[in-house]
Amino acid sequence: MNYGLSDNLHLGAIISDCWHSKLLHPENLVTNPFLADRLPDDLPSDPMHWAAAWIKAAHDGKLRRNSNSMTLVTLSAEGDPSARIVLCKEFVADPGYLVFHTNYHSQKGREIVANPKVAALFHWDGPGRQIRIEGMAIQSPTEESDAYFETRDWGARLGAWGSDQSAVLQSRDELIAQIRSRASALGADLADDLQSLASGDAPDIPRPPHWGGFRIWANSIELWKDGADRIHDRGLWKRKLVRSSEHEFSVTPWVGTRLQP
Ligand SMILES: Cc1cc2nc3c(=O)[nH]c(=O)nc-3n(C[C@H](O)[C@H](O)[C@H](O)COP(=O)(O)O)c2cc1C
Repeated sequence: MNYGLSDNLHLGAIISDCWHSKLLHPENLVTNPFLADRLPDDLPSDPMHWAAAWIKAAHDGKLRRNSNSMTLVTLSAEGDPSARIVLCKEFVADPGYLVFHTNYHSQKGREIVANPKVAALFHWDGPGRQIRIEGMAIQSPTEESDAYFETRDWGARLGAWGSDQSAVLQSRDELIAQIRSRASALGADLADDLQSLASGDAPDIPRPPHWGGFRIWANSIELWKDGADRIHDRGLWKRKLVRSSEHEFSVTPWVGTRLQP
């Protein structure tokens, strides 16, 4: 199942279905990932589908601003970790990867190229859910990056050209001047507020070649659900990834175990 996080129709249909026909069935409180208040006794064989449901529920339920945000950890060449928030823009339960977009020249972008091992972490306090994912990050196919870039508003597209993400700046004025000069090179004359054009039609802003998606292929996932008296529920699943092509891994089946809280 593929949850693009800008489309909430699918979840709406699922919730509606649950509400009208199945919500009151106690089994749903364990077996339906949207509604479950703990993990099933027999751990599901498809943890990515559960994770997808939790992410989708959080996003569409607008549990907080940027409900699809996640902490992303990368490693430097020396093995030093660094963490920052990025937005999960797509979650593909089968075969099991998620997508975020960034500047490939940023610190995280450069670190991933040197060492693709990453960790990603989601947490929503409302439903008491946490998802830990570890795996390998590889650049998205250009079509995926292009398709997402097209959905960004004009200012955000321009911003992708305007900022050399993670590079040192002498001052904010230097950044503004840089954005103006790059906008001008793209045929856009910016007004004082930067976001609007001083005159003329807005030119189309193409995707910068150094800006695009990364797919994180999971080889480990933990689903965590809070419980009374801190008797939380934890399921941990692992599998092996073998690189099969430029953008793909072949995967072994998930093997799940339950962990003490
Ligand atoms: C809510 C939120 C969402 C963000 N989303 C992204 C994102 O999707 N992609 C991105 O490159 N940076 C995003 N950022 C900015 C990053 O946290 C970070 O500052 C930036 O990517 C530079 O990180 P780096 O220098 O470690 O590469 C977001 C920040 C916040 C607070």
